[in-house]
Order: sequence, then C-alpha cells, then structure tokens
Amino acid sequence: MKIVFFSTRAFERTSFPAANAAHGHSLEFLSEGLSPATAILARGAGCACLSVGDHAGQDGLAALREVGVRLIALRSAGFNHVDLDAAERLGLTVARVPAYSPHSVAEHALALLMTLNRKIHRAYNRIREQNFSLEGLMGFDLHGKTVGVVGTGQIGEAFIRIMLGMGCRVLASDPYQNPRCVELGVRYVPTAGLWPACDVISLNCPLTPQTRHLVSDAALATIKPGAVLINTSRGAVVDTVAVIAALKSGRLGGLAIDVYEEEGDLFYRDLSGEILQDDVFVRLMTFPNVLITGHQGFFTREAVAAIAETTLDNATRFERGTIPSENLVSISHVVSSSSNA
Ligand code: NAI
Repeated sequence: MKIVFFSTRAFERTSFPAANAAHGHSLEFLSEGLSPATAILARGAGCACLSVGDHAGQDGLAALREVGVRLIALRSAGFNHVDLDAAERLGLTVARVPAYSPHSVAEHALALLMTLNRKIHRAYNRIREQNFSLEGLMGFDLHGKTVGVVGTGQIGEAFIRIMLGMGCRVLASDPYQNPRCVELGVRYVPTAGLWPACDVISLNCPLTPQTRHLVSDAALATIKPGAVLINTSRGAVVDTVAVIAALKSGRLGGLAIDVYEEEGDLFYRDLSGEILQDDVFVRLMTFPNVLITGHQGFFTREAVAAIAETTLDNATRFERGTIPSENLVSISHVVSSSSNA
C-alpha cells in the first residue's frame, strides 16, 4: 500500500524504512503537516500517516478521502487530534499505536519530577558558570509522599510502579480501576478527592471532552499548597492560564510538562531565531519552578522502533481486513471515557 506521511520528523525517515523491510509498503515522507490544502499530496495513497501535531478535522479528512485515502494511521497512542465523528461519516478507518513503550513516557515523567524537585536544571547551568552555591536548590524527599495519578492505563501503571519503588503512597483516579494497580495497593478516589490529598500529581489520562481542562481554576483551588503537577498526557488536560495563576500565587509548587495546549505551533521545530507569539507559553518559561520538554516522552529507541512496526503492521492488516480491535479508534472510544471518577 502507498502510505503518505505528514509532518515527518528526521528520525522517522530512518525508523519507518527499517521497519518496512518486513512489510513492503511504498512510503512517501512529507515535511508538511496535514491541512485541507496539503491533503492533496496524498493523492494515490491508500493510507495517510499522521503525527500528533496533525490536526485531522472534518475538512482535512474529507480532502484525504477525496484523493483516495481509506486508512488514517496514527503514529501515536493519543487520538484527540482526529475528528472521529467525521472519520466515521466519511468511511475512513482510523488506527493507532495503543502501546509502544509505556515505560518511555513513565520514565520521562520520573525524569521531569526528579529534575524539577531537585532543581537539576538549575544546578547544571550554575555549575557550568562555576557557581557552587546551594541557594534555591532545596528539594524534598519523595519517599513517604503521596502521589496522585490521574489515569491508570499502561503509562499510569508504569509510573505507579516507579513511584511505589520510591517509597511513595499512591492514590489514583480513573473511571475504570486497573486490577493490577489495586493489587499493588493503589487506592482509587474520585478526582475531586485526589487534588487535596497529594504532594505530587501526574496526569496520565487521554484528552477527551471530559478531561479537557480537568486541571482548572476550581481544581487548583483545592490542591495541597505547594503540590507539584506533572503532565505528560495532553496539554489541554490542563488549563494553562489557570495554572499560571496558581504558580503566581504559590499555591502550585511546581509544574513539569511535556505537552502544552498550543504545542502544535511550537513543538518539533527549531524556532530559536524567531520571536515567539504565544504569550502564555512565554510566561510559563519565566517561572524558575516550571520545567518544559517538547513532547519527547515517547522518544526512546525502543518506543520509536515499536511505533514504526505497529503503524506499518496496521496498514498491512488493514489490507487484509484484520486490524486488531485495540488498534482501531472509533467515536465509541471518546464516549467510553465519558465518566470521570
Ligand atoms: P491508556 O489508554 O492505556 O490509559 C488511559 C487511562 O486513562 C485509561 O485507564 C482510562 O480509563 C483513563 N481515563 C480516561 N478518562 C479518564 C478520566 N476522565 N479521568 C481519569 N482517567 C481517565 O493510555 P496510555 O497509553 O496510558 O496513555 C495515556 C495518555 O498519555 C495518552 O492518551 C496520551 O495522551 C499520552 N501520551 C503521551 C506521550 C508523550 O510522549 N508525552 C506518548 C504516549 C501517550
């Protein structure tokens, strides 16, 4: 099958051809992102392969369908960037990579938490300037602290195992209890009960209509003063403006994010010579207790290879009519996440 890749990043030009040896698809890599105007570049392809930065709205999907695309292959686990309703109406199949390496993201969440708490980012810069002062570098022991995990799927579970290994107590919130987490001694509480009880909160749920701005003004007003928030899920699970207010007031003790609401205009590009127009993001960057990475949680050798393999396998199986149900995404995925404990 001919597969056209939108928003191709440099490493994907290597990882996908390597995995394709076992599949024999015809791969075409584009730097352009998907839009109603660029969809025409997929003419003649049965499959359009999209990155998390490609917004696949009604118009873009209709334009893809028009030029012959039948399969939308997401090279991500998240699918909030696709209008699933429109895809269904247009008769487009949407497949994703439900699991590649939950450890990649869970370990990145740990890296963010440890860096933020122990001020490694500040110490690194200080030492390079021969400033060996400890002023402002004090952190806290994670051992004995209460960690709240919102979303106990694959990444949430992997993160919980790490936190338990550090001697933390874990509370969780998820409409569906993960029996392995229950067995590990994790206590499930409603989300509203999680905010005030935790020293550290990690977001590991998908972005759905129910989780959009889950971390709101109202939620932040109830967090434990000085609590630290880690978001490796999707940017819009957090209301960034509300979070900035909570950082300014000191109620929120620290923020580490790998994802940002408006990351589509920023991440995965070298903008070092440009004037950033996103004032909210620029304000975030000014806080000493905010740490930002550019959606790199997934970026390990193991995860990148697994993403390429599963994405191409989805295309191969689509041709045979046998995509595994857990790799298929439909509007029911959004509906099934609708309750919020
Ligand atoms: P998963 O599907 O295994 O688990 C998600 C969990 O969130 C499920 O248990 C689900 O029931 C729960 N959930 C749904 N709605 C909820 C709500 N309202 N409140 C609390 N929990 C809720 O997904 P996985 O693989 O663990 O990934 C989680 C998210 O991490 C993805 O949806 C994606 O947005 C993000 N992600 C980020 C990456 C990065 O590079 N930073 C890479 C991969 C995923």
